[in-house]
Amino acid sequence: MTESVSSANAQRHSIDPDIRSRAWLDESQYQEMYQRSIEDPEGFWRDQAKTLAWFREPETISRSTFSATGTDIRWFEDGTINAAWNCLDRHLETRGDQPAIIWEGDEPGDTKTLRFRELHGRVGQCANALKSLGIGRGDTVTLYMPMVPEAAIAMLACARIGALHSVVFGGFSPDALAGRIQDSGSRVVITADESVRGGKHIPLKENVDEALSREGTEIVEHVLVVRRTGGDTAWHDRDRWYHEVVDGQSRECPAEELGAEEGLFILYTSGSTGKPKGLKHTIGGYLLYTSLTHRYVFDYHDGDVYWCAADVGWITGHSYIVYGPLANGATTLMFEGVPSYPTHGRVGEIIDRHGVNILYTSPTAVRALMAHGEHIMDSSSRDSLRMLGSVGEPINPEAWSWFHRVVGNGRCPIMDTWWQTETGGHMITPLPGFSEIKPGAAMKPFFGVRPALYDNEGNRLEGEASGNLVIEASWPGQARTIWHNHERFEQTYFSMHEGVYFTGDGARRDADGDYWITGRIDDVLNVSGHRLGTAEIESSLVAHEAVAEAAVVGYPHDVKGQGIYIYVTLNDGVTQSEELRRELISRVRHDIGPIATPDIIQWAPGLPKTRSGKIMRRILRKIASNELEGLGDTSTLADPSVVEELIEHRHQ
Ligand code: WT7
Repeated sequence: MTESVSSANAQRHSIDPDIRSRAWLDESQYQEMYQRSIEDPEGFWRDQAKTLAWFREPETISRSTFSATGTDIRWFEDGTINAAWNCLDRHLETRGDQPAIIWEGDEPGDTKTLRFRELHGRVGQCANALKSLGIGRGDTVTLYMPMVPEAAIAMLACARIGALHSVVFGGFSPDALAGRIQDSGSRVVITADESVRGGKHIPLKENVDEALSREGTEIVEHVLVVRRTGGDTAWHDRDRWYHEVVDGQSRECPAEELGAEEGLFILYTSGSTGKPKGLKHTIGGYLLYTSLTHRYVFDYHDGDVYWCAADVGWITGHSYIVYGPLANGATTLMFEGVPSYPTHGRVGEIIDRHGVNILYTSPTAVRALMAHGEHIMDSSSRDSLRMLGSVGEPINPEAWSWFHRVVGNGRCPIMDTWWQTETGGHMITPLPGFSEIKPGAAMKPFFGVRPALYDNEGNRLEGEASGNLVIEASWPGQARTIWHNHERFEQTYFSMHEGVYFTGDGARRDADGDYWITGRIDDVLNVSGHRLGTAEIESSLVAHEAVAEAAVVGYPHDVKGQGIYIYVTLNDGVTQSEELRRELISRVRHDIGPIATPDIIQWAPGLPKTRSGKIMRRILRKIASNELEGLGDTSTLADPSVVEELIEHRHQ
């Protein structure tokens, strides 16, 4: 774990007084509300729950226990609600004609606006279509979609009828998709012929066909295909054009009255071991938590145009493109393309074209822009911007100040939001009403969040300290379980330290009580803000007949934050070659997807292991990061000479 800057010499940034004064809450109001949320969570969340529209308001607020052998998380369990109703119907009277989704396609100027009334009708049609295919309450539907309005429409259509969506990021491979379809048990898959990013076409439908040729996916009965490009695609009996099934349906579809603890969606994410886990989020708590954080953290006010530049395939897209903003009646911008196409000025041009007030993106996107120089922002003024947000990984000081100075014209504060797929929404974050923020610090817990630091022995650390970041009590947005595997849920998150939620991240709390996230302390990589398990990549490699053993670690990468460094031991008699290296790289891309493309493969005659045969990843990480001093004690290794050999041949 790298030590962060201490508070004494941390830079401080004063938030622009105009921005601060219009914020919902100033610092003392935050303090007061936070205090209440901790001392009287029942009263606090009962009041907050009134910001949603319920069929039946909840009486019971929370009954949650954290334990390695009996985690049970429930919020608002006797309330009944519908997420799509909250995101659509309740806005019709007051803002039916306000843009709900502004879509900007891959080609500049290819835009569409869906007003709340129109979106409501389109969601109703899609919901009726799903019903006509036999989908209803408790069923799962897999979405493998480009960033087109139909992705949000299909999500909300599922929510409307009580089906759970499982969105699989369009960059995942057919094999990764197949595993997720199988695990979720989806009978319907919604996809598009192709997606378009940066002028390139990606054959989504072809990938679905390939996925459905894998064992275990026979349960899929129907594939709905959105026509995005008109590109050629093979056609099977199970395939139907989306528009042919959806467009003729009635726009009216009653919103099911659902229990607050019924499932809203499953979302797969990588862990340190085994296959990706399907985190299950439920309706009431998730919707309340995402709408509340969206409003306060981005200081969202009526009429603002808000852009979260993530993909709906990730939790950021679920919580902060779709559910949070739409529940607040916000205009949410959805961008299909990439920031570098057709030129690196694209982000600024989109901001100007649509008058974006709030921009939420990732450090990796900022660093990618930064690499091309400030002049790329000359094609736009970005005068409409008021607020910036960052998510996905720690933001380094250079990226922070470039984002602030160049993108935000030195005027917009950056909300560095720390959270996870598991947490549903922002957990530790600055608020726009704070007088000062510290670049690189995630700062303060959001309402109801009780962070703490533990050492490896399970001692709770007080005051200024570094340790394992845990959360000591449940909050409404939290994932409730791993789909069909509650035991793994308890094992992964509640067994490290009894009675608390273990985040997998390390953090430091400075003398002011502000939190600095230092990064994952488990075997999870964070590549360009995407989470990848080292075990998944390793199992892809060892399945290759030439490979005896593989160890995957992260190393610092200028743009991606972390790059993928792989040590491969070949089977006896196999010779290392450039061709084999390329083959192994394409094997990983094939099994997981392009986001997992290895950066470096080092041939390793042996791996450093303890006498009991455990790979010493700490040493491998240091070698990969070129931190050759302080390799630590290597005397417990079975064969210390292995380390010398790896250092000598390390990839420069
Ligand atoms: C991991 C969660 C939350 C949506 C995107 C990623 C890292 C996330 C920050 C931040 C430092 C961050 C953590 C976390 N992370 N935000 N602001 N500062 N690190 O969701 O794929 O579930 O990954 O991303 O390591 O555990 P995810």
